[in-house]
Amino acid sequence: TIDDLTAEIGSANTLDAVESLRVALLGKQGSITGLLKTLGGMTPEQRQVEGPRLNGLREAATAAIAARKASLEGAALEAKLASERLDLSLPAPDSPRGTIHPVSQVMDELAEIFADMGFAVAEGPEIEDDWHNFTALNIPETHPARAMHDTFYFPDGKLLRTHTSPVQIRTMTSQAPPLRIIAPGRVYRSDSDATHTPMFHQIEGLVIDEGIHLGHLKWTLETMLRAFFERDDIVLRLRPSYFPFTEPSVEVDVGYSWQGSRRILGGDENWMELLGSGMVHPRVLANCNIDATRYSGFAFGVGVDRLAMLKYGMDDLRAFFDGDLRWLRHYGFAA
Ligand code: PHE
Repeated sequence: TIDDLTAEIGSANTLDAVESLRVALLGKQGSITGLLKTLGGMTPEQRQVEGPRLNGLREAATAAIAARKASLEGAALEAKLASERLDLSLPAPDSPRGTIHPVSQVMDELAEIFADMGFAVAEGPEIEDDWHNFTALNIPETHPARAMHDTFYFPDGKLLRTHTSPVQIRTMTSQAPPLRIIAPGRVYRSDSDATHTPMFHQIEGLVIDEGIHLGHLKWTLETMLRAFFERDDIVLRLRPSYFPFTEPSVEVDVGYSWQGSRRILGGDENWMELLGSGMVHPRVLANCNIDATRYSGFAFGVGVDRLAMLKYGMDDLRAFFDGDLRWLRHYGFAA
């Protein structure tokens, strides 16, 4: 009977069981299908009675199967949703936030200090050619800076710039004086110990105008360092030196005193070498088609990592590039 049938289908507990019932009742070999086939052999009178009865049976079975299937599927979905439930009211965990690296911080600060003195920021490629990195800077073929142990060369003869000085050349060949630029960036030398890393940072400075002399260089650097270290007692000492691209060349020393094991800049108790600089060599000006009878200028190159170490009392250059959060945290550069 229809009631027996619906009860049986209703008690099927899995989708598989429902499917087996469907095959057993309504499939090609199913019992209801078999009964329907007998209609053909009946008399019209019998068929009039049995036809509606058997079709009713089939419809009831079909409907009961569909209903049971829907209910089992619904229950499965409910269970899945319950097990995958997300509590959207929970606060999200604090994700670690990035912070400014000391080197970036120092480069930004210096760019700002120089901007106040009217310097624009210039850029050049880290992959340089020999002419910009050496030749145009009056560095002859035989200069030790060209030897393989210092410079990283590419097979095509290009190289990783060994200093930011090629940006002097790029600036002087693309703009006319007066010029007042700084060029911060990465430089590379095949060198590695506690005070040298194969990649480090420099800021190049270049001023070209009429009547520029060493006094302008000294004032500029002193003003920059006093602003950067926030001390008015910082004094500089210029010492004769040699760079192929400056004449005269000067090494700039800064006065400092000891506070425990830490160097504090200021005063003239002790001197430490800080940066290389000088008046741009007339041959370099000529290489850039600048009239050396009319214009003169100064240039300097300062190590950014070095300045950061002095400012924050850090003692190992290599730590800058280890990416160790504990180190950054120690110096207040990470949360
Ligand atoms: N380029 C030199 C260096 O890396 C520094 C420098 C720059 C010296 C400009 C003089 C003038 O050592």
